[in-house]
Amino acid sequence: MARHFLTLMDLSPNELNTVIQRAIELKKQHRDGTAAKTLDGKVLGMIFEKSSTRTRVSFEAGIAQLGGSGLFLSSNDTQLGRGEPIEDTSRVISSMVDIIMIRTFGHDIVEKFAQYSSVPIINALTDSYHPCQLLADIQTYVEHRGDPKGKTVVWIGDGNNMCHSYINAARQCDFKLRIVCPKGYEPDQALVDANKERLEFFDNLPNAVTDADWVVTDTWASMGQEEEKQARLDAFKGYQVTEELLTLANDDVVLMHCLPAYRGMEINDTVMDSKYSVVWDEAENRLHAQKALMEFLMGKISV
Ligand code: CP
Ligand code: NVA
Repeated sequence: MARHFLTLMDLSPNELNTVIQRAIELKKQHRDGTAAKTLDGKVLGMIFEKSSTRTRVSFEAGIAQLGGSGLFLSSNDTQLGRGEPIEDTSRVISSMVDIIMIRTFGHDIVEKFAQYSSVPIINALTDSYHPCQLLADIQTYVEHRGDPKGKTVVWIGDGNNMCHSYINAARQCDFKLRIVCPKGYEPDQALVDANKERLEFFDNLPNAVTDADWVVTDTWASMGQEEEKQARLDAFKGYQVTEELLTLANDDVVLMHCLPAYRGMEINDTVMDSKYSVVWDEAENRLHAQKALMEFLMGKISV
């Protein structure tokens, strides 16, 4: 049976830690020019039903660095876009490639893909979760500050796919997650109920950020929510992350954002280039974290 990565919960905490440590090692080896071609000749299918910069480049460059190749499949150019059933598509593509990543809308789509696939399926973002981003975010925290266990992490903004993945990360890495969202934009209630003991909700940013170790935000309007943009701009007024806000946090606080970022909205013009920000390392780490993930799912790393 193939192992899949649809949410962060598909790895045990121990496996997650192994993947993160391997990502750190792969990054170093890449810089030293000593990385081995551990996935030599393997083919990664890359299905995109939404836009991407980081995910596409990091997966395509990553599989090439491991000795394999990536096949970019946009739904506009495949029969998926013309309504071929997911189960048929999954059976066929998985019979031809060694591993598949999918960026799509409903989370049920990646679940169905995984059900019918003979090879590992990676969720490269759905409306509900973005677990690959969390691998990079955790790697970044570990590299800059060490083990996130027991730390205070603050999610500011939309209770979206990234927020949901942070809730899973709070469980997997054993940190406390404070959430500050406008009314009506809270994360999924069932997920919140299942993780109650690790979560705390705040109704204002300064209180949420006081004594924080790690602050994270995301766009106010995710892909697929273009029509809600104006309503969201109104609802999220006052939820912008600034250097002034971050002075309330612990001195060694780090700021993350999965990107793309919208300056003047969820962040001001300067905070991503301030001393608090690790967003550029976070973006780069997508490359190494996903290489480690692909090695793990293809049985190349023992835990
Ligand atoms: N953070 C992230 O997934 O970026 P892209 O949408 O550019 O892939
Ligand atoms: N929440 C954003 C993340 C983009 C990487 C979205 O889903 O569009």
